[in-house]
Parts: sequence; C-alpha cells; structure tokens
Amino acid sequence: MRRPVQWFSRARKHSTRPAAWMLAGVASSALILTSCTAPTSTDNTADSSNSDSAAITTPVPIATAPGAPETTLSSTANAELNTESASLNDARVFYRWFSMAGHAELSEAQLRVIEEWISGYQEARGEGDDSGVATPELNVQPVLTASTEEAIGIRLEAFEFLGASGAASYHTLWYLPQEHQALETKDLFTDDATWAKLLELAKTALSKHPDVFPDAPADVDETYLDSLNFDSAGNGLLEFDEYTVAAGAVGAPVITIAAADLEPLLNKAGKKVRTAGMSAETSTQAASSSSVVSSEAPGTVTAPPDAAAPPSQSNVDCAVTKCIALTFDDGPGPYTQQLLDTLGEYNAKATFFVVGSNVDRYTETLMREAAEGHEIGNHTWSHRSLPTLSEDGVSDELESTSDAISNVLGYAPQLVRPPYGATSPTVNQLTHSPVVLWDVDTLDWKSRNAAAVVDEAVTGAHAGAIVLMHDIHSSTVNAVPEILKQLSGQGYEFVTVSQLLASKNPAAGVVYSTGPAPK
Ligand code: NI
Repeated sequence: MRRPVQWFSRARKHSTRPAAWMLAGVASSALILTSCTAPTSTDNTADSSNSDSAAITTPVPIATAPGAPETTLSSTANAELNTESASLNDARVFYRWFSMAGHAELSEAQLRVIEEWISGYQEARGEGDDSGVATPELNVQPVLTASTEEAIGIRLEAFEFLGASGAASYHTLWYLPQEHQALETKDLFTDDATWAKLLELAKTALSKHPDVFPDAPADVDETYLDSLNFDSAGNGLLEFDEYTVAAGAVGAPVITIAAADLEPLLNKAGKKVRTAGMSAETSTQAASSSSVVSSEAPGTVTAPPDAAAPPSQSNVDCAVTKCIALTFDDGPGPYTQQLLDTLGEYNAKATFFVVGSNVDRYTETLMREAAEGHEIGNHTWSHRSLPTLSEDGVSDELESTSDAISNVLGYAPQLVRPPYGATSPTVNQLTHSPVVLWDVDTLDWKSRNAAAVVDEAVTGAHAGAIVLMHDIHSSTVNAVPEILKQLSGQGYEFVTVSQLLASKNPAAGVVYSTGPAPK
C-alpha cells in the first residue's frame, strides 16, 4: 500500500528556526578534541564510471548505500567535529547531530531539519496514526559524507515509526566552515533554471526505475531533492525517502546524475562541495558514525584491565539498609562530569545507562564513571525502540554497545535498560541480562527544571526505589545536589542497581523496576 507522498511535512521546510529547547545544549557542545580516528576503509561503492544521466543505482542497505558515503575526519581544521544527542522522551524522540566549536550555524542548520521532522511526526501522531498497539518513535542519526577544510557534508537519517511500520527519510546538508555558511541542495545551483534542470533530470531517471511507482515522477517536486551527495567521479547521487516514490520494500532509491550533466548546473559553492564529496573517503561501516567521532582525549586512555566482570562493589544489604538507586540515561554528555563531582561529594553511587554511540565521544567520562564506583548499564547503540526491531536488530543494538563499553572498561555491562522502557518478551530474552526499568520517574525530560526534578525525586523516594533521570539535561544535573542533600538527611544510602538488587539474585531476561526495602 502506498504511503502518503508527503511523509514528513515538507512544505514547511526552511520555514522555522530551532526552538530554544533544541539549542539549549548547543553552546555547551563546543568541546575541542585533540585527535581523530583514522579512516578505516576506502571502499567507494558508487559506480564512478557511469555516464548515463538517467542511470539507476540499485538500492542497497543503508550502511553501504552509494548515496551515503561515510567519511572519516581528516586531521585538519575539522578535527573538533562532534556529535551531540538530545531526546524528547515523552514523544519518543531521540536525535543526534554534528557540532563544531565556533560554528553554531552548523548545529542550527541540522536542528532546523530535525525540528521539521519532529513537528511532522507530532502532527501525524495527532492524526491518530499511532492508535495501534505499537508505540510511535522518531530517531535521527547523522552521518558525515564529506569533511575537508572547505566543506562538510552531513546526511541526516530520520527513522519514523507510527504504529504499523517504519520509514526512513534523508536530508543532506552542506557546510562551508570558512564562510560559516550552511547550504541546502538548492543553494548549490546557479539559479532557478539550473535547479529546475536538476528536477527534470531526476524525474527522467526516476521514470526509468523499474521499482518506482509509474505516477511518482509526476508528483516529485523540488522538496524531494533534499539529499544530494557525490561519488568519487563527481556524479550526483540523489536519494529519495522510503515510501515516497517506491514501495517500502525497495528501500530508499538512489539515482545517479552524471557528472557531465551536473557540473554545469552548479555554482561556486556547489563546485566546492562536489569537490569535497568526491574526495570523501568512504567507509562501508554501519552508519553509526562511531568511526567518525574523536574520543575526548585518547592519549590518556589506558589499557583496559583484564577483568571480564565489573569490579565487585561494596556489600550493602538493601534488605536491611534504606537504599535508593539513582539512574541516569542517555549519556555520557557534556554535563556528566559535573554530575560525577556532585556524586563524589556525597560518596553516592549511581548507575549510568549509556548510549553506545556516545562512547567514542565521551570515553574519558565513561572511564571516570566506572573508576568512581558507579555502575555502567547498556542503553543500546542508537536509542531505538527495541520492540520495533528485528531480532538481529535488537542484538546489534545491544552487542555493539556492550562491545564499545567493554573496549574501554575491560568488562561488559551487566544490565540493560531498553530505550523508553519499551520492551517485550522477545526483547527481554535477547538482552541476556536483567532488564532494569524504574518505579520513580522524575519527568526531568519534561520539566527541564531543577526544582521540579528535586520535587519529583524527593516526593517519589522510598526504600528500594529505582529513580529515572537523564544526565544529558543540565537541569537534571543541577537538581542532584539538592536531591542528595535531602535524601541523605532522610537516611538513604545511594547504591547502584546491582547493589540494590543483589539480594534478589537478578536473572537474565527478567524485568526489575524496584528493589527490596527493609522490613
Ligand atoms: Ni533513554
């Protein structure tokens, strides 16, 4: 069945600026890295000898799609390029974007696109598309498609799930660091006539595609041309969102615009980004961007210990002691070090449910969490709602995160917390770990207000409680001193989840949302 062509509300594209809440984390993201990851592969999967302007590129899995070359950073001006993440947990929205110190324009351009996706998603939800048993979700991940001193290419992939099945959408932005200028596809063309010519070339290519709906090319307008990349020969690779021009099973069709046809249409900026795209060293790694991001200070990372299990934690008998487990999800992030300072002042232990794709970026922070006696749990690689994934997808999300953490700490996390607390019997089984939910929700993602977070935590506190918070919000981190002060005053001991549950002998595949209390 054909999905609506206007899958996300494209008409309002470019019309809004990022909301204040979306930019809240941007200023603090200006962290400078000291080195970068070497390219891992130079396998360019695109057909660089193609001279047919209407050629169709066979759809391939996203990780290796020719429309999605993934580049690693060169050790040049862009070495401080990072990913940052944010979430709107109430709406099951999780997104990541690239940031660069001194280049707010780069973040703003991506957040504009992401905000459009979010509002389109919220609108669709409002229409009741998620009335089924499955829960809706929007997840946005960035991939770097070019990175030179002249131009950076960023391809955003949005996965949207509204209750029946999911669809992926793509949007590629270009950024000129020297000019502090973010460019949409249209900005790469000399004028309206050459832009119209691209649309004409695209329609011709689509009409020859065996999988494209016969009536689709007529429906295609300029808003569809929002993800243009380049292969090493300078051919244009135009990528279309899933379900917009072809059946979902076809994936996201990519068409090739021959270099000879494309080159005369491009303006100066367009030629600049094309050159950057052509020189991109592509990788066939999963589009997780894990290889793209530098770690905080790799020079100081020491070899992991040989231990295969976490260090043993002090024996607190929570069947006798008044225990509480504070848990922090979605990090590490820019505020986590501050949180660790606070926890240290109170000698409070906590549990961090870490997103795997943050590990490279915050290696030092992760090491500090573990070194200071906190527990590290698995919160998946890209924060997708697990019940909507295939079994292999669930295992990939969990194992890649477990491996990333294990590579840093020398042991794998023992606990899993599924994103949004969304799980199923199948997911529980695939975790091969105790599944940890919570029984006190501070709603910190909603209030973004320290006083409100303190109130929820203190009011909800009870012996054996597992308290949900997120260390990616500054308001949450600012709430923790007062929470620790008040709850210590009430005689609570702050323990990790494993300490809390120890007397229960937690078993793999079983869900825990609270711990024991003294009789
Ligand atoms: Ni989360």
